[in-house]
Amino acid sequence: MTSLAGSQVAGSDVNIKKDMIITIDGPSGAGKSTIAKMLAGEAGFTYIDSGAIYRGIAYAYRNRENNETIGELLPLISLTFEFGENTRVLLGELDISDGIRLPEISLLASSLSQDRSVRDYANAIQRRLGGRGRVVLEGRDTGSVVFPDADIKFYLDAGADERAGRRHLELSAKGSREAMKTVKEEMEKRDKNDSERAIAPLVIPDGAIYVDTTGIGPEEVLKTIMGHIEKRNAGK
Ligand code: DC
Repeated sequence: MTSLAGSQVAGSDVNIKKDMIITIDGPSGAGKSTIAKMLAGEAGFTYIDSGAIYRGIAYAYRNRENNETIGELLPLISLTFEFGENTRVLLGELDISDGIRLPEISLLASSLSQDRSVRDYANAIQRRLGGRGRVVLEGRDTGSVVFPDADIKFYLDAGADERAGRRHLELSAKGSREAMKTVKEEMEKRDKNDSERAIAPLVIPDGAIYVDTTGIGPEEVLKTIMGHIEKRNAGK
């Protein structure tokens, strides 16, 4: 049996089993990264931002020198991922942690993520790093495909306007000057790509707990999620 001597959440007496695999999926702007990061911090788990893998591949693809196809490029690139509170991505020696967040990389990552070899590459990294537990994974298919037997799975969602607003705020904070309308259009395009693709589309994973974060702040969402984890650990 798994030990319950996990983490005590600040201000509560919630226990998190030590070796849990927790997945959080959902569309962009639903609050996944904020919540996954907070939850991982509380639990002392590693936060695995699976989108960073797709973004790293997209960055390498955009900057390739010999016009390789994605299938040709994957075995040639050297991407290093350091997951934790802040995700660090290196392409060779080059730190691309900021570069992968550019809006053009978001769209390219979304379109390349339809490719089987790209998904296999990303899945292998997530399974290698997350297989032993103590992780909170966040993405589009972490609970449906990467870890279908995760201890607990969440699907975070929010209304399209609110998601676009959050995304706009996030980008503005990083110095982007993109108009709200452009941000919303890009988000809708990505949502469509990600949920209609043939391989591993964005779905609510079997057995996932659906959390609507519209109009709800991160602390409140975290509380809801912790409540579900506590119930799961208590076998309810
Ligand atoms: O979560 P994000 O915005 O950083 O993800 C960027 C893109 O990567 C997203 O639009 C689709 C792809 N992605 C995916 O297909 N599967 C995942 N588990 C995570 C991201």
